[in-house]
Amino acid sequence: MEFISNAMILSFSILLLLPSTSYSLYQKPENHIKTAIFVTGSFEMGPGSIATKTFENIKFPRGHVGIKSFDAELVDQEGNSIPSYETYLHHWFAIKYHQNITMSPNPKLRRPEDAFFQRNEGTCNGGILPHYWGFGVESRGTTSKIPDPFAIEQGNPTKIKNGYEEKWLLNIMVIDTRGAQDKKACTQCRCDHMNLPKDFYNVTRDIHNQRLTTNYKGGLFCCQDNLQCKQIEGFQGSRRMVSLRYKISWVDWNIYQIPVKVYILDSTDKVRSNGSKILHDCLAEYTIPAGGGGDSPHVQKANIPMENGGYLIYGTAHMHSGVVNATLYGQDGRTLCTSTPKYGTGKEAGNEKGYLIGMSVCYPQPGSIKIHDGEILTLESRYKNEFRTGAMGHFYIYLAEELPQ
Ligand SMILES: *[C@@H]1O[C@H](CO)[C@@H](O)[C@H](O)[C@H]1NC(C)=O
Ligand SMILES: *[C@@H]1O[C@H](CO)[C@@H](O)[C@H](O)[C@H]1NC(C)=O
Ligand SMILES: *[C@@H]1O[C@H](CO)[C@@H](O)[C@H](O)[C@H]1NC(C)=O
Ligand SMILES: *[C@@H]1O[C@H](CO)[C@@H](O)[C@H](O)[C@H]1NC(C)=O
Repeated sequence: MEFISNAMILSFSILLLLPSTSYSLYQKPENHIKTAIFVTGSFEMGPGSIATKTFENIKFPRGHVGIKSFDAELVDQEGNSIPSYETYLHHWFAIKYHQNITMSPNPKLRRPEDAFFQRNEGTCNGGILPHYWGFGVESRGTTSKIPDPFAIEQGNPTKIKNGYEEKWLLNIMVIDTRGAQDKKACTQCRCDHMNLPKDFYNVTRDIHNQRLTTNYKGGLFCCQDNLQCKQIEGFQGSRRMVSLRYKISWVDWNIYQIPVKVYILDSTDKVRSNGSKILHDCLAEYTIPAGGGGDSPHVQKANIPMENGGYLIYGTAHMHSGVVNATLYGQDGRTLCTSTPKYGTGKEAGNEKGYLIGMSVCYPQPGSIKIHDGEILTLESRYKNEFRTGAMGHFYIYLAEELPQ
């Protein structure tokens, strides 16, 4: 099974061994919208440490539901929000999978078909960017809310094969930058700033399952679990337990809800065709070379055909610090959505000075923007033009096939 990163491939092989460790804090009805806050299991972090974890079978609303929002942030063992300049949330991804209910408890007796992902509708190949929700350092200031009567339908019993159940996992990557020699390089997963194992380049496989070459300067593969960013000598800092706290709002599914489809587009997608077949090649991340073109931003661009269109209900982008903006254009050049960054100015969690703290969200009047079947969209992600590794340009759009009467 192909995945977002090597780290995730590794974690999926142990996926079915871990116990579920999330728990519910509270649940309160809010008109017809219900909201619950959950916390994943915790893991220990110290200065410079990197954690790449998968929490399987997380708490998630049961039954046939319409999800209205899904937000997440890092907290310590007392439930306090952790600021990004201490522990940097690189990403969290919520991924759906279906699992054989009577699967053997012995991992050796399990077959690949006993657990498989149910990816979003997005256009990336294989198992790349399969999640439904997920952001990074911009999480606290980026809303995932969907306007009524739209919702993301989950748990539809007619879409779950007999003998299987629907489950969710969270894949997260967290970097403790306390004491790092270079916090920025550390959050960009720069290989030369990590204490990589000696045979790193010999044993690590890239997203195409090829041996990683020393041309790879940074990104997901250099931020593997248990690695460490190079530290200032003599730096002292406490270790602590960290968890991801996430908040979900939902409605029970009924005829008044209108489903939206979730598409995640990637500005690295090199689209090719083979006869009538369209082939995608998403890298999930990219490097911006040093010594770029001065004041104008670096632009990473993809032309992505959409097999099925729909009305645009929501749009935003997952990017990293240094982002200028990201824009999705229609085939005729019209702007469908631009997502712009917000940078922090203070000290408190959610407003950390110099850090990306949110990306703007587009909510076009439903019906006003229509993407046509087969339309080729253009995605441009723009960063400040300076050396940067592990840059991401993921655009999230929710499309409805119908409108309220
Ligand atoms: C689930 O796994 C069990 C044990 O391997 C197997 O007997 C059963 O046929 C599987 N169920 C389905 C629906 O594949
Ligand atoms: C990589 O593997 C080759 C041959 O397998 C070996 O000669 C070389 O020393 C290895 N390099 C590192 C950095 O481990
Ligand atoms: C194109 O399709 C043909 C027939 O399905 C297949 O044999 C060939 O390998 C494909 N080429 C590429 C580049 O994917
Ligand atoms: C996005 O950035 C580009 C390049 O700086 C700029 O020309 C454009 O106006 C920006 N778009 C928005 C909507 O801010």
